[in-house]
Amino acid sequence: MKFKTLPGFRNFYPNDCAIREYIFSVWKNSASAFGFVQYDSPTLEPLDLFKEKSGDEISDQLFCFKDKGGRQVALRPEMTPSLAKLVGEKANSLKKPLKWYSIGEQFRYERPQKGRLRSFYQFNVDIIGEEGIGAEVELLSCLVHNLNAFGLRNSDFGIFYSDRILWVIFLKIHGVKDQDILPALALIDRNGNAKSEEFLDKIMPYLSENSDNFLNSLNSFMNVKNLNELKEYFNDKDLTNELNHQIDDRIKDLKNMMVLLDAIGLKEYLNIDLSIVRGLAYYTGFVFEVFEQKGKGRALAGGGRYDNLIKKLTGNAMSAVGFAMGDVTLMDLLNDKNRLPKTSAVADIYIIFSENHSRTIALSDSKILRMNGVKVDYPLKIRSFSSLFKFFKQSGIRYALLYSDNEIDKGLVKLIDLKTGKEEFINRSESDFFEKLYSIIL
Ligand code: HAM
Repeated sequence: MKFKTLPGFRNFYPNDCAIREYIFSVWKNSASAFGFVQYDSPTLEPLDLFKEKSGDEISDQLFCFKDKGGRQVALRPEMTPSLAKLVGEKANSLKKPLKWYSIGEQFRYERPQKGRLRSFYQFNVDIIGEEGIGAEVELLSCLVHNLNAFGLRNSDFGIFYSDRILWVIFLKIHGVKDQDILPALALIDRNGNAKSEEFLDKIMPYLSENSDNFLNSLNSFMNVKNLNELKEYFNDKDLTNELNHQIDDRIKDLKNMMVLLDAIGLKEYLNIDLSIVRGLAYYTGFVFEVFEQKGKGRALAGGGRYDNLIKKLTGNAMSAVGFAMGDVTLMDLLNDKNRLPKTSAVADIYIIFSENHSRTIALSDSKILRMNGVKVDYPLKIRSFSSLFKFFKQSGIRYALLYSDNEIDKGLVKLIDLKTGKEEFINRSESDFFEKLYSIIL
């Protein structure tokens, strides 16, 4: 083939588009049900917007170049910095809290693999201007509502949460200085539970103790199973009163959040998992990722609180919390669970005619049907019935409406249910002709 599609990019044939539109419509409906309103931003942005703000990992994955005006630009790898810029620039005139969502294409130069492409769609849902835990609760509520709307239950997916405030305290206890917190978190994020020599070589210069102590402590911290255990973990350390207060306050916040989530039936979806750090640099508090319940493949969604980003980008301080869900892993899961509806790009009804006389009547009826929201298709030239029926078999069209010269003169058209084979004549000279058709085919 002369022009190969670039690695990590997808073509969407009509049936793929139909599935994509289905996913977008469920995303849209869920966001609207919670009062989120849609926004968008340019796909191409100044490189600097993403360079420092998203963290090293995304910076290395940018599709960037110099435009003809000599500007350094990048295709957006995520929405959050653009959103922060959008709201920060109008901070004074926007009524807070803002509940905004977007659906858009993102680009990351990653190694294409299962669940990871170079172009993908994200559903971003963010609440800006509310610092209390009510925002996290509303956000998670919308997230679960959305996955439920796709037919997924708590046996299918789980939300795994962690906390950047507690991670910062953990690192400080181990001697990491303020300026080294972000690089240390990035190292831990990249290495997960694999404590390789290379990881130790890189992390040790940030620490004030020997590697055995640190590794033991890191393991116990990451393996904490609930908030009471987390408290016990810190109780075992010899800490200042100030740190103890900070830890108590934070665990109290998380417990209060869980009480609210329990009240709306979401607690069963939530699992503490401190091995989640999140690769993006801007998170400041509660963070989470959504995974398929069995086996941790690639995340379906991820997000968290980012209270400093808007100020860093625009000078206006606004707290924020949000998440993004990707279409690639979602589609994989829906496919595995057989939860994708039989969407197709075909018409609701196909109109057929044999001669020019019936053709003019059929075309005029098609116009009325189309104006009333029925998806109608017909052959662009007169074709034999046998070739049309061959086409129906392949296309998955449900109904055919037959206009033949003989019957049309008696006022009759024949509706054929192509699935069951049932045929019935409908009188098109009667006033309820269209109503009758709608009641059958829509
Ligand atoms: P993220 O974790 O980088 O977060 O991405 C969120 C989701 O986007 C992932 O869980 C995954 O489903 C999808 N995704 C990411 N990269 C790829 C890829 N290369 N191929 C396919 N899917 C991918 C963010 O982007 C944050 N900006 C989310 C956020 C919104 N935080 C606050 N508000």
